Amino acid sequence: MPAQKDVRKKNSSATTKTKATTRMAYGVKLLTSQHKDIRKLKRDAEAPSIHGNKFWGSSYLIMDYLQKNPPQKGCRVLELGCGWGLASIYCAKKYKAKVTGIDADDAVFPYLQLHAAHNDVEVKTKKQYFEKITTKQLEKYDMIIAADICFWDDLADIVYKLIRRACKAGVGKIIIADPQRSPFLEMSERCVNKFYAELEPWSVKKPRSASGSLLIIENN
Ligand SMILES: C[S@@+](CC[C@H](N)C(=O)[O-])C[C@H]1O[C@@H](n2cnc3c(N)ncnc32)[C@H](O)[C@@H]1O
Repeated sequence: MPAQKDVRKKNSSATTKTKATTRMAYGVKLLTSQHKDIRKLKRDAEAPSIHGNKFWGSSYLIMDYLQKNPPQKGCRVLELGCGWGLASIYCAKKYKAKVTGIDADDAVFPYLQLHAAHNDVEVKTKKQYFEKITTKQLEKYDMIIAADICFWDDLADIVYKLIRRACKAGVGKIIIADPQRSPFLEMSERCVNKFYAELEPWSVKKPRSASGSLLIIENN
C-alpha cells in the first residue's frame, strides 16, 4: 500500500510540470498564450491594434453552425475581419475549403499563419478595409463567414453595405456571428428587411462557452 501512494504522488507532480500549451476546438489545434511560438510572436512581432488580439468567442458559434450545416467540400470561403483566423482554419481543415482571410490589421496574420501551420492547412490573407472590398472581388467566393466584426457604431453601415455588395456578387451563403452588440443588431435588422436574412440565437458550451446570434443569408 505505501508504494502505491508514492506512485500517485509522482504522477501528480508530473502533470503539473507538463501543463498543456495546446488545446483542441472542433478539430482545430489552438496554441495557448503559454505556447513558446505565441510567446515569441508577442515578444517580437507588432501587436494587433483593432481587437484582433485573440480568438473571440463568436468563431465558436460559426464552427458549431457549420458542423451542423456543412458546406460543400472544396468551396471557396472568404472570412471578413479574420483576426487569428479560427473559423478560416476550421473550414480549410474540415472541408478542404479554399480560404482567404481579410483584415484591416496585418499584425493579426502571423498569428493566423502560425495556427494554419500547426494545423497543416493553407489560408491566404489580404490586408484590406471592408469599405474597399469590391463586388468584383466578392464574385470569387461561395461563402462568406465573419465573427465579431460589427463592434463600433460606424461599422453597422460599413458591414451592411459590404453584405449588399456580396449579395449582388452572387455569394451563395453569408454567416455573421456576434455576441449581440448593438451595431450588429442594427445591421442585422436591415439585412432581415432587405435580404430575407435570418437572425438566430446560438450558443455553445464546449470546448468553451460562447453565446450570441448568427445572421444567415441564403442568397440563391
Ligand atoms: C473582434 S476582432 C474578431 C477577430 C476574429 N474574427 C475572431 O473572431 O477571433 C475584429 C477583427 O476585425 C478587424 N477589423 C475591424 N474593422 C475592420 C475594417 N473596417 N476592415 C477590415 N477589418 C476590420 C480587426 O482588425 C479584427 O481583427
